[in-house]
Amino acid sequence: MSELLDLAGKHIVLGLSGGIACYKAADFTRELVKAGATVQVVMTAAAEAFITPVTMQALSNRSVYTSQWDAREPNNMAHINLTRDADAIVIAPASADFIAKLVQGRADDLLSLACLARPIERCPLLVAPAMNREMWAHPATQRNLAQLRLDGATLLGPGNGDQACGEIGDGRMLEPVELLSDVIAFFQPKRLAGKRVLITAGPTFEPIDPVRGITNLSSGKMGFAIARAAAEAGAIVTLIAGPVHRPTPRGVIRLDVGTAQQMFDAALDAAAASDVFIATAAVADWRPAAFADHKIKKSADYAVPTLELTENPDILAAVARLLKPPYCVGFAAESADLLKHAREKLVRKGVPLIVGNIGPAAFGFDDNALTLVDAAGERELLRADKLTLARQLITEIATRIGARA
Ligand code: C5P
Repeated sequence: MSELLDLAGKHIVLGLSGGIACYKAADFTRELVKAGATVQVVMTAAAEAFITPVTMQALSNRSVYTSQWDAREPNNMAHINLTRDADAIVIAPASADFIAKLVQGRADDLLSLACLARPIERCPLLVAPAMNREMWAHPATQRNLAQLRLDGATLLGPGNGDQACGEIGDGRMLEPVELLSDVIAFFQPKRLAGKRVLITAGPTFEPIDPVRGITNLSSGKMGFAIARAAAEAGAIVTLIAGPVHRPTPRGVIRLDVGTAQQMFDAALDAAAASDVFIATAAVADWRPAAFADHKIKKSADYAVPTLELTENPDILAAVARLLKPPYCVGFAAESADLLKHAREKLVRKGVPLIVGNIGPAAFGFDDNALTLVDAAGERELLRADKLTLARQLITEIATRIGARA
């Protein structure tokens, strides 16, 4: 999805402390630059043992700072100058030793000095730990991390899995694309902080026999973008996904389902505990009345079989009918008369907001245009990529439910 310029105008000081994960910092730098950020790399002496400043300079297109005695700065105060126009310092990798230093406010090298000397109100500190699982689990590290959080730092990860030492567990640095998602999310306003958002996405698949089925055209892109935007806005997001091949947005709880009935069961299970329900799924309206246990064979006379269909439950309408329903948002994919159909749907489903789009112009594309229809009137969200629209929609929903703006 178009992360392309999500960090346009942002200036990031990227600090590397010593650890094998320094190799990932190279790729992370590229991701930040591709997303539109300017990146100023600062490395500790230990980081230089793992990767050279030459590599980091080439990727960031800026000369790298490594020493507090760097004479390039006219006032010889690199540790001050570095952060005055920075939107954030990101330490990736952050070794156990460097985290301990941050916690104690020690400042015996340029990077720790810059962290201590940063204007704490306007230059946030993001820390991506990278260490062996035993180091991670050690009470000293855990104590330091708790203090670091109390001091206002944001932790990115760590991840879990194979470690360079051959062990498996917590402590590996997040992958560059995961770090990028987390940094982008960090800068998004937390309009839905703590709210529970439930989303359905993708098509459903209604089996006819073991090899055939009825489905709908839906890539899931819009629903997944909305899940990502809601998570970025600080919501606790559950995404019920029909059969689509899409990566789960960071921090989102995903439940995979196949049929409309399974989607219905999963949605009704979670809906009562949700603050917002957004139904983006293209649910099959009908399913075969009976499932054939074996593949239906062509008959000798090539007679076309007749399929008896039965209606699927309407998930959105059922959630909206709950005693205390979440704020329900429906989608209307139409090929014509969008407003008329959207208004009808508002009433028929009993929901406060319908989001209309012209189906053939939306299916599978990276961009779309939306029309919001509610009791107050209509509002156009102009053609844009689906993530941008998703963020706008989340803003609109947050306003309507009176969440913190
Ligand atoms: O009824 P119709 O398919 O036109 O309405 C579309 C909206 O209702 C979408 O938000 C869709 O996700 C939702 N829907 C549903 N369950 C169905 C059919 C549609 O939740 N069985």
